[in-house]
Amino acid sequence: MKPLRIAVLTISDRSSRGEREDRSGPALVERITGLGWQVVDQQIVPDSIPTIQSTLVAWADSDRCDIIFTTGGTGFTPRDVTPEATLAVIDRQTPGLAEAMRAASLQITPHAMLSRAVAGIRKKTLIVNFPGSPKAALENLDTILPVLPHAVELIHGDAEAESSHRKLHRSDQEEEHAGV
Ligand code: MTE
Repeated sequence: MKPLRIAVLTISDRSSRGEREDRSGPALVERITGLGWQVVDQQIVPDSIPTIQSTLVAWADSDRCDIIFTTGGTGFTPRDVTPEATLAVIDRQTPGLAEAMRAASLQITPHAMLSRAVAGIRKKTLIVNFPGSPKAALENLDTILPVLPHAVELIHGDAEAESSHRKLHRSDQEEEHAGV
């Protein structure tokens, strides 16, 4: 399989004004490139719904990236609008990713309850929200990491991936029935 093509969007008023160093975007980029995946776009934008939306749309519709990770703006403050901007541009939600991230994060901190992060698919691009701190962003990425290559294959409608997935699933069930 080709290396996944990833875009990273940091969403922060202060970082976009240069008042605070963006540490989460670079931390995600480092982790992604360490996996051998490609970072095709990286940008910092303020917590503004139209700006977030237009960046997500431009990236997803350019067909240049398989996945967009956002970091920041998922909390409860009035300026935290990343989930709303994301929901406005996706065609289908992928709630399992957000559920898994919150469940895993709750094992680390009760503050995981304070992330309103969502995930979903626009055309052929998966968009996933992460919280804003570098620690939280990496913890959330690590949770969903193992399923991302297969998720992208499925989004692209890769017939071979679907049939091998079904075979795998069938053999899991057969093992379950056999009490393995
Ligand atoms: N998830 C993980 N795994 N680790 C964390 O440290 N921090 C939480 C939460 N999710 C955290 C986490 C905190 S403190 C907040 S306020 C919310 O994410 C939202 O973060 P954001 O507003 O920076 O997006």
